[in-house]
Amino acid sequence: HKMENLKVLISEEEIEKKLEELASQLDKDYEGKETTILSVLNGAVFFTTELTLKMKTKMQFAFIKISSYEGTESTGKVTLKSDVSNSLIEGKDVLIVEDIVDTGRSMSYLLEHIKAKNPKSLKLCSLVSKPSRREIEVPIDYLGFEIPNKFIIGYGFDDEEGFRRNLPYIGYKEV
Ligand code: IMP
Ligand code: MG
Repeated sequence: HKMENLKVLISEEEIEKKLEELASQLDKDYEGKETTILSVLNGAVFFTTELTLKMKTKMQFAFIKISSYEGTESTGKVTLKSDVSNSLIEGKDVLIVEDIVDTGRSMSYLLEHIKAKNPKSLKLCSLVSKPSRREIEVPIDYLGFEIPNKFIIGYGFDDEEGFRRNLPYIGYKEV
């Protein structure tokens, strides 16, 4: 599967092991709750399905689509592209499943947006975090990997050329 110019940052085996750990922790924490898994389209779908297939807790699934504009990074504008219905959030134990927290702008926006729908509890699970890029503090309750400031591709992460989301590992190009 390995593509030219791409180096492996996190291998399939490392991802698999981390997902097992996260799934067993989440099973403990969400047992007996009215869980809604809120997955952030499109990138986090890969992480969401592979993580939740390892879990035993009952859960509902919901999806939301937001977009951030790289070109206007200074303004950090986040736009809601497709909302989630209130009935899947209100009174539920909501776990946001996201692919990455980079500047923190997207998740800061999303956490406020979902809080306004009155969940019983709200937590964030992110596969990856780039702490050196943070502009807004975001509490990550469940984290897969902390990574340096590299632009990653694969396992849901897309680049401007597209078509590489389905690589089974997380790779990077030098920035
Ligand atoms: P934020 O800066 O935390 O708001 O993240 C915005 C979005 O940028 C993320 O949801 C990703 O879609 C994208 N992103 C940030 N870093 C990377 C990367 O290394 N590879 C691919 N997409 C990224
Ligand atoms: Mg994203």
